[in-house]
Amino acid sequence: MSKPLMGKVALVTGGSRGLGAATVRLLAEQGADVAFTYVNSEKQARAVVDEVHGKGVKAVAFQSDQADTSRAPALIDDVVAHFGGLDILVNNAAISVAGTVDDPDADTAALDRMHATNYLGVIAVIRAASRVLRTGGRIITVSSGLGSRVGTPGLADYSATKSGIERYTMGVARDLGPRNITANVVEAGLMEGGMEPPDPETLEVLVSSLSLQRMGHPDEIAAAIAFLASPAASYITGAVLDAHGGYNA
Ligand SMILES: NC(=O)c1ccc[n+]([C@@H]2O[C@H](COP(=O)([O-])OP(=O)(O)OC[C@H]3O[C@@H](n4cnc5c(N)ncnc54)[C@H](OP(=O)(O)O)[C@@H]3O)[C@@H](O)[C@H]2O)c1
Repeated sequence: MSKPLMGKVALVTGGSRGLGAATVRLLAEQGADVAFTYVNSEKQARAVVDEVHGKGVKAVAFQSDQADTSRAPALIDDVVAHFGGLDILVNNAAISVAGTVDDPDADTAALDRMHATNYLGVIAVIRAASRVLRTGGRIITVSSGLGSRVGTPGLADYSATKSGIERYTMGVARDLGPRNITANVVEAGLMEGGMEPPDPETLEVLVSSLSLQRMGHPDEIAAAIAFLASPAASYITGAVLDAHGGYNA
C-alpha cells in the first residue's frame, strides 16, 4: 500500500473502538503517526496502540474526557509534546442518547452530557488544535446522516449536536483556509459494531430508507476520512462527504 501520510501526525478523538479505531488503523497504514483519545476503554485503547506499532509507525492513546472542555488545550499540548506537531485532526468521539422531546422521563443529565461531548467538546478540541495545526493541515469532523435529515422520532438532540458541528466545521474552513488548512465533514451512516444502534423498529426504518439497504462497515467510513486527510483532497474544504449508504438519495 502507498503511504500518502508518511511524516504526518494525526489525532483521532475516540480511537479505542468502532469507527475511531478503524480510522486510527487506516491512517497508520498510510504512514501517519497517530494519537487518539478514549475515556473508559483502557484495555481496548492499549490493544489499538499495540496493533498500530506493528505497522511501523508511532501511536499513543490519551485518556481525555471530551465532555470536559477544559481538557482540550492540555490534550493538544500532549500530542505536540509527544510527536512534535499536528497535521490531521479527526473529530470522531461522540455518544448517542435518544428520546422524544416530550418524554417526561427523559434522562436530561445524559442528554446534557451528549451535548457537551458531541458539540462543545468538539469545538474545544478544534479551537485548541487550530493553534498548532501545520500548513497543509486537515480537520475532518465525523457527523451522521442525521446531521442533515432526522428521519425518525427520538433523535432531535443527537441530530442537533451533529448538525451544529457540521456548521461549525464550515466556519472553520473559512477561518483556516488562508493558512492552507482544510476542514470537512464526513456524514457517517449506521455502522456494524459501532455505538449502540437505536431500537430494532427504528433501526429497520432507518436501514430500509438507505439506497444500499444495509448498514456500513467502519472501514468503509474510515476510507472516506482517509481520503479527506490525503494529498488527493488538497482543494476540498467546507464540504460534506456522505458515507451513509444513500440516506439522502
Ligand atoms: N455507529 C453508527 O451507527 C454511527 C452512525 C452515524 C454516525 N456515527 C458517528 O460516528 C462516530 C463514531 O461512532 P462509533 O459508532 O464508532 O462509536 P463507538 O463505537 O461508541 O465509539 C466511540 C468512541 O468515542 C469515545 N468516546 C466516547 N465518549 C467520549 C468522551 N467523552 N471523551 C473521549 N472519548 C469518548 C469512546 O471511548 P471509550 O471506548 O473509552 O468509551 C470510543 O472510542 C461518532 O461521531 C458517531 O456519532 C456513528
